[in-house]
Amino acid sequence: MRMRRKRNLEARVEACAPVLVARGKPCKNLKVAAESYRALLDYPALFGRSAPVELEVGCGNGAFIAELAKRERGCDFLAVEVCTNVVLTAMERVMEEGISNVRFLNIAAEILPCFIPEGSVRRIYLNFSTPLPEAGRERQRLTSDRFLGIYKKLLMPGGEIVQKTDSADFFDYSLRKFRENGFCVKDVTRDLHNSEYAKDNIVTEYEANFSAKGVPICRAVAVLQ
Ligand SMILES: C[S@@+](CC[C@H](N)C(=O)[O-])C[C@H]1O[C@@H](n2cnc3c(N)ncnc32)[C@H](O)[C@@H]1O
Repeated sequence: MRMRRKRNLEARVEACAPVLVARGKPCKNLKVAAESYRALLDYPALFGRSAPVELEVGCGNGAFIAELAKRERGCDFLAVEVCTNVVLTAMERVMEEGISNVRFLNIAAEILPCFIPEGSVRRIYLNFSTPLPEAGRERQRLTSDRFLGIYKKLLMPGGEIVQKTDSADFFDYSLRKFRENGFCVKDVTRDLHNSEYAKDNIVTEYEANFSAKGVPICRAVAVLQ
């Protein structure tokens, strides 16, 4: 279902300037942009300190990253979301709660290399990425070879991807892709809420919806070798 455009969208996005560090695309063609445009983030300048940096791709309404940032005060967080209407909720949440260790990129994940320095990210969170089961849309899946190639550049040695999904098929696909792309897969569960990992789990908006319908949640960690 298409979400209605929020009122005063542009003015509200402008008011979130203190937490918004990148927006839009430098040129029409994402591939060209990813290869040729660079406006790399200066983390100490952004956060006023040097701390480990973690990244959520497709942060939606920001409930997850806001809670994680409050729990992990010693870490800095970047949250990427392509949809301006959606990321606005996340940015306003972080501004209202005065959370100082989160910044947002309102961009497509395809152009992350334009902004994120290579080898600078400790962990990437993929929460309920759209499974896109149609064969013709494989390249758009956030765990396809194309995206794993991007994450491998951004992650530091030994860095990891934490994935959660409601889709068993997408989970199987992702586990296969992680291994094919040189990641070591660990901490796999196909029923997160009844597993040893439930205690520290932060429930996202989509997770709450799926879980309320009785759908078990899959979760795994892929470590870069
Ligand atoms: C199914 S929602 C999940 C939202 C949230 N992570 C949660 O668990 O509640 C997937 C989100 O990823 C975003 N998204 C999809 N493809 C993306 C891409 N290539 N770059 C950035 N964001 C993307 C969508 O706009 C959407 O908000």
